[in-house]
Amino acid sequence: MTTLITGANRGIGQALMGLYADAGEPVIGTHRAADAGTMYELDVTDPASHAALAARLGDRPIDLLVCNAGVFLDKGQTLAGGYPADMWEQMFAANVTGVFLTIQHLLPHLQRANAGKIAIISSQMASHTRAPGGSYIYRASKAAALNLGRNLATDLAPEGIAVGIYHPGWVRTDMGGDSADISMEESAAGLAARFAELSLETSGCFLTWDGQEHPY
Ligand SMILES: NC(=O)c1ccc[n+]([C@@H]2O[C@H](COP(=O)([O-])OP(=O)(O)OC[C@H]3O[C@@H](n4cnc5c(N)ncnc54)[C@H](OP(=O)(O)O)[C@@H]3O)[C@@H](O)[C@H]2O)c1
Repeated sequence: MTTLITGANRGIGQALMGLYADAGEPVIGTHRAADAGTMYELDVTDPASHAALAARLGDRPIDLLVCNAGVFLDKGQTLAGGYPADMWEQMFAANVTGVFLTIQHLLPHLQRANAGKIAIISSQMASHTRAPGGSYIYRASKAAALNLGRNLATDLAPEGIAVGIYHPGWVRTDMGGDSADISMEESAAGLAARFAELSLETSGCFLTWDGQEHPY
């Protein structure tokens, strides 16, 4: 069972990659930098980079695609004068368009697998039921990724491909910071268990790393 993880050079993506590698399962990690050693190159915002990765994969089936790469650039922006337009563009390019392009380009590889699965790493900050204010771009982009996952679940069901959307917890990474609740390894272990459970019956689910249903 081959897993492909975007943004696997650090943070949650790296912990997930380590977990599958330690279990002896084939895993492909991607990184946007060209000199990333054994990683496959992929800048999720760049259609040419997607085409190059798909070509490099050839006929190889992908059983589980984890759309993990993401950015959170609007921490601490102020409503008066902050949140510049180019920040919206940059964050949506990675967190929304990036997820879509990844799935679109790797769909033939998922179709070659027996029962392909897609996991989108969104966030609890995607939920309309949680609105403490601030971080408008990140919240909107993660809400869009959640919506994308829900609609892809509908369209891909006839092909036997399941789609799950996940909140990985508040995780101690560069993005989550040192005071976050859980380690990357705890998050990765929980997420991997959720991915294993994902099926056509549960496709379109929005779950936390520890298996709680999250309100949309
Ligand atoms: N940490 C948390 O508490 C938390 C909570 C909720 C959701 N999440 C979500 O979980 C995912 C992983 O977060 P993390 O905490 O592990 O973040 P992180 O430590 O900041 O790592 C982000 C990863 O995404 C990659 N990336 C960013 N833009 C990219 C692009 N254009 N193309 C390819 N890769 C790109 C980064 O690569 P570079 O090294 O090249 O920048 C890095 O590998 C994200 O989607 C995040 O929104 C995290």
